[in-house]
Amino acid sequence: PEQKAVVKDKIKRLLKAQNAVLVAHYYVESDLQELAEETGGYVSDSLDMARFGKEHPAQTLIVAGVRFMGETAKILTPEKRVLMPTLEAECSLDLECPADQFIPFCDEHPDRTVVVYSNTSAAVKARADYVVTSSIAVDLVTWLHEQGKKILWAPDKHLGNYIQRLTGADMLRWQAACVVHDEFKSRALGDLIGKYPDAAILVHPESPEEIIKLADAVGSTSQLIKAAQTLPNKRFIVATDSGIFYKMQQAAPGKEFIAAPTMGEGATCRSCAHCPWMAMNGLHNLLQVLETGNNEIFVDEAVRVKALRSTQRMLDFSA
Ligand code: 13P
Ligand code: SF4
Repeated sequence: PEQKAVVKDKIKRLLKAQNAVLVAHYYVESDLQELAEETGGYVSDSLDMARFGKEHPAQTLIVAGVRFMGETAKILTPEKRVLMPTLEAECSLDLECPADQFIPFCDEHPDRTVVVYSNTSAAVKARADYVVTSSIAVDLVTWLHEQGKKILWAPDKHLGNYIQRLTGADMLRWQAACVVHDEFKSRALGDLIGKYPDAAILVHPESPEEIIKLADAVGSTSQLIKAAQTLPNKRFIVATDSGIFYKMQQAAPGKEFIAAPTMGEGATCRSCAHCPWMAMNGLHNLLQVLETGNNEIFVDEAVRVKALRSTQRMLDFSA
């Protein structure tokens, strides 16, 4: 613990000395979330991370999360230095939607408005008309649908199906999934609900349809934390990455949070409700990047300029 305190102190001093600010996602380890808050940084869902990084005056942004979050920061603020504790932190949605397959797919459907989830590479964003996060995806597609637009959606199949069910929009959908949320099991969740009938069910929309159907609230990580605060229930079953419990507990003290099951009986899960890439962020590699300036994010300028159009529309739409 003493060692940890020493590392945290060093990080705090370096952040100040380098005019750097730490922006963290709810899924990274609680030490990093705590540090972000203690040092004037920010912890949030992916949309608010992007907004905070853009508006904050610091010259260096340290993004604790996965690669697309660092790239989004660089797309929005190329004049800033963007560093990440690790450059290895991918996202299965991003990996399962490579630009060299996605671009020709879009080219085959020129009549469709291309809407992509923020969990994608800069090159995929550059081919899109709009970028969204889970907090605004339903509203943006509703708005496009009302204008009679046909949509090409990528990459998350569960989120795409959820949006389609709610909006009735004509959506051609890419078929990728999040390795964490795809693992939630509806039968085991049903059993848990039987055991705790008073609990409200909070679900991130990257989860399968059978899980979403059992939900009392569906939304982005920030929206789920808000639901934990505002719903009258004293107990919640939560279907998203377990990293969220740190902030949920803080935001709604006195309430009880139970992880939704990722395994039916006898089954195995790949990631057991914690993103393996988010877990690569830690105090030690954060200290290292501050000491060395390594792990800087760069985005090809031609790609960045194109990706800025669709990414800026995300911010404008949600303003
Ligand atoms: P949020 O925008 O809800 O934070 O989601 C990001 C993410 O990667 C969820 O798995
Ligand atoms: Fe990607 Fe899923 Fe990890 Fe979020 S939790 S970063 S969607 S793999």
